[in-house]
Amino acid sequence: MTTHTTTAQRSSKHPTTIGIDVGGTGMKGGLVRLGSGPKSGTLRGDRFRIPTPQPAMAEPVAATLAAITAELDARDKAPAPTAPLGVCFPSIVKDGVCLSANNIDPSWIGTDLKAAFEEHLRRPVRVVNDADAAGLAEARYGAGRGVSGLVLVITLGTGIGGAMVHDGVLVPNFEVGSLELDGVMAETRASAKAREREDLSWAEYAQRLQRFFSHVEHVFSPDLFIVGGGISKRPDDYLPLLSLRTPIVPAQLRNNAGIVGAALAAHDSLADAR
Ligand code: BGC
Repeated sequence: MTTHTTTAQRSSKHPTTIGIDVGGTGMKGGLVRLGSGPKSGTLRGDRFRIPTPQPAMAEPVAATLAAITAELDARDKAPAPTAPLGVCFPSIVKDGVCLSANNIDPSWIGTDLKAAFEEHLRRPVRVVNDADAAGLAEARYGAGRGVSGLVLVITLGTGIGGAMVHDGVLVPNFEVGSLELDGVMAETRASAKAREREDLSWAEYAQRLQRFFSHVEHVFSPDLFIVGGGISKRPDDYLPLLSLRTPIVPAQLRNNAGIVGAALAAHDSLADAR
């Protein structure tokens, strides 16, 4: 008997979901191949970026999300225009509601992001914290793939984001950048932005990271640290300067981790709902 691989079978190996990463300066979206095939966790085609509207209030951000979605929907291999879509956002997100605003406009606090975005996009939307999205993506397709025990993904950017993944399961909203350290919030001294703002050398910055990671290591005893955010592109400048008992490695998905993780969250929530 001859067997034929149908288009449906091919696409179920790589179900495609839209993921969008809402950042302070840019909003980036892409068509993400999920599933467990060799290309899983990568984007189909280029990502599409639009600068984040300033001031970044709910209405213009939702309209920009709609513009990004329209561009992606029009592409070959896009999922159905009614398919769930994932968005990651730089705040605590609980049940779709924004609960913090360390580095975004305080007016977001209390906003039901899920409801607001679904109204604009007219399809199911899953909204998750940006570091949680990066953590999901790294655990499934990146540096944490196949690692058991406790993996902490720490993103160093404008703030410090954290994702706690235990045996592949995400414990959401791990606000590790908000830990108080030396009398201030850790992210005010040890984020990538703090390094730029204070014009720190890599050696000086590594001292701040040492203090931060040692503290987190002592409190959580992880099995692996994965460092994400923009500066995960240049790990040789600071990772060799850190002395920890926990292995520490750069993230692998780099700039696309948020997009991939947002898509994963949307896809997994659909599976959960079945
Ligand atoms: C926020 C986190 C976010 C991180 C990275 C922090 O200021 O509190 O929720 O994950 O920045 O964007």
